[in-house]
Amino acid sequence: MSDRSSGQIDTVMIEKRLFPPSDDFASRAAIGSPEAYQALYDAAQADPEAFWAKLAKEELHWFEPFTKALEWEPPFAKWFIGGKTNVSYNCLDAHLQTERRTKPAIVWEGEPGDERTLTYEQLHAEVCKFANVLRSLGIGQGDVVSIYMPMTPELAIAMLACARVGAVHSVIFAGFSAEAIADRNNDAQAKLQLTSDGAWRRGKVLPLKETVDEALAKSPTVEKCVVLRRVENDVAMQEGRDFWWHELMEQASADCPAEPVDSENTLFILYTSGSTGKPKGIRHTSAGYNLYAKKTFEWVFDYRDDDIFWCTADCGWITGHSYIVYGPLSAGATVLMYEGAPNFPAEDRFWEIVEKYRVNVLYTAPTAIRAFIKWGDDHVDKHDLSSLRLLGTVGEGINPEAWMWYHKKIGGERCPIVDTWWQTETGGIMMSPLPGAIPTKPGSCTKPLPGVIPSIVDEALEEVPADHGGMLCIAHPWPGMLRGIWRDDARYSEQYWTKVPGKYLTGDNARCDGDGYYWIMGRIDDVINVSGHRLSTIEVESALVSHDRVAEAAAVGRPDELKGQAIAVFVTIKGDAEPTEELRQELRAHVRKEIGALASPDDIRFTAALPKTRSGKIMRRLLRDIAAGKEAAGDTSTLEDFSVLAKLRQNDE
Ligand code: WTA
Repeated sequence: MSDRSSGQIDTVMIEKRLFPPSDDFASRAAIGSPEAYQALYDAAQADPEAFWAKLAKEELHWFEPFTKALEWEPPFAKWFIGGKTNVSYNCLDAHLQTERRTKPAIVWEGEPGDERTLTYEQLHAEVCKFANVLRSLGIGQGDVVSIYMPMTPELAIAMLACARVGAVHSVIFAGFSAEAIADRNNDAQAKLQLTSDGAWRRGKVLPLKETVDEALAKSPTVEKCVVLRRVENDVAMQEGRDFWWHELMEQASADCPAEPVDSENTLFILYTSGSTGKPKGIRHTSAGYNLYAKKTFEWVFDYRDDDIFWCTADCGWITGHSYIVYGPLSAGATVLMYEGAPNFPAEDRFWEIVEKYRVNVLYTAPTAIRAFIKWGDDHVDKHDLSSLRLLGTVGEGINPEAWMWYHKKIGGERCPIVDTWWQTETGGIMMSPLPGAIPTKPGSCTKPLPGVIPSIVDEALEEVPADHGGMLCIAHPWPGMLRGIWRDDARYSEQYWTKVPGKYLTGDNARCDGDGYYWIMGRIDDVINVSGHRLSTIEVESALVSHDRVAEAAAVGRPDELKGQAIAVFVTIKGDAEPTEELRQELRAHVRKEIGALASPDDIRFTAALPKTRSGKIMRRLLRDIAAGKEAAGDTSTLEDFSVLAKLRQNDE
């Protein structure tokens, strides 16, 4: 146990299972041994600038070469100084002189079951046309385009067209409210809005245009709005402001050379909500982000030219930006894009899609995996998943038992799992196994990628020893890092660079074990402090989830006179289990047995669902307030389902 005065975090979780890749997988992987990984890592660590400069020259197209790899004036970094490139060129034009010209770039399935495939050549033509549409609407370099669209190919086309003309996109997930859109539009000073008549969600129409109309009434900087026809519902079109996508495209030419832009030209802003306060517009730029998304895609997913790669995220999140659009397309991959919900028309939709398209690599989130576990194995058993060769997760920690289920049930015990740790701010994956090289441990994101130099420190800013938890920082700039918060340098400095001077503060806690494997322990703000022991949420939750009747769990601290904090847990049980007092006792005993009396929960509440953000993360800060008997405070604009909160409050006696 750690020295309690220094603010280190105690670990109570010991996971000994180790899963090396099969010989077959490793022998075919681009990086196929621990030694190969280490050699790459060491080369990058010895001279990060030279490492990235070499890759940038090889991997991106340069209209003008850069003269210097990095300019680092903490906390502001610039990469590939003086160079001119274009991200849409790297994603499209770069493949047109190769065999990939006729290869599918996007294979799309709509929620109602409609299908479309766009080859690189076709995608290029669509992007060029829409780039000309943008130009005809007065959009050029530096203008902000707000995108609120369903997961259709046009969403990717819109993003790439912005990149092509040097404009800045701000994609807003199509589940956000009018208020949330207006806030983001105003902060970004967006000039153009892109949307659709509606979106399909579990067979029903979400009226996106109506929501946008409400938002635009409060978005004075937005001059025009382009509307994609998707669901064919009736929408009001405002004369002079609103235009139909298909009408503008009919007249557009497919000839639109990519605009050479500076390496540091802003490619996009993406709003992410902090635990308090208003959402921040995370700013990413062109060359460094592009390189980082491309290389991390190739390394982590052991990219092979004939792969069908399916990332189930929405383009409204960073995962969709980096691993549906920019990473895979600049690598020349075929990406599958699915419009709808995982449980429509039934809970086996994902497995039906895997079987139908012979998906090889599946990248999804722990929240989805826990839902599949809850829905039961029958839905999986109906389908042939033998095409899968690699699985990935992102977004939250994955509890070891959920990992084991993913490994056995979806991966057939043959697919490596890449548990990828990263953030909107980091632009791309920072820690993850390279699947042919690094044996995995359930619950660990294993090792840093080449060029990523993690550092875990305590409150005294001292590096903690192995197996002690502390604040996870990154000690050296990397090309994919955020360049700032949109129009708020002070907040950027304060949030990420002040508490631990000279290092990027991730906001997560982590520990590194004796084998150099990293374990994310949850957000710094979520730590539970019991009698001076600082415990991580994920460890308590993982102990609960390892009970065979628990599907999902969230642990929070609540004030306690004696112990400082007591542990309150919210538990969702599997379909066939009953929420009885016996089960409550059993769970308490189970946690005590798994990780010790110290972490045994004081309060156990059963709930049908946990409150989550729209991207699927458990909102522990709301649960903290409920556990403490307070009303849920703070920003709830990202909450997925308010009714969940209301139900939790009702159960709160
Ligand atoms: C959490 C998503 C544990 C973490 C790409 C991080 C994870 C935040 C993992 C960023 C993982 C993401 N294991 N925790 N593999 N991946 N997280 O900005 O707390 O939506 O700081 O980016 O999600 O979430 P964001």
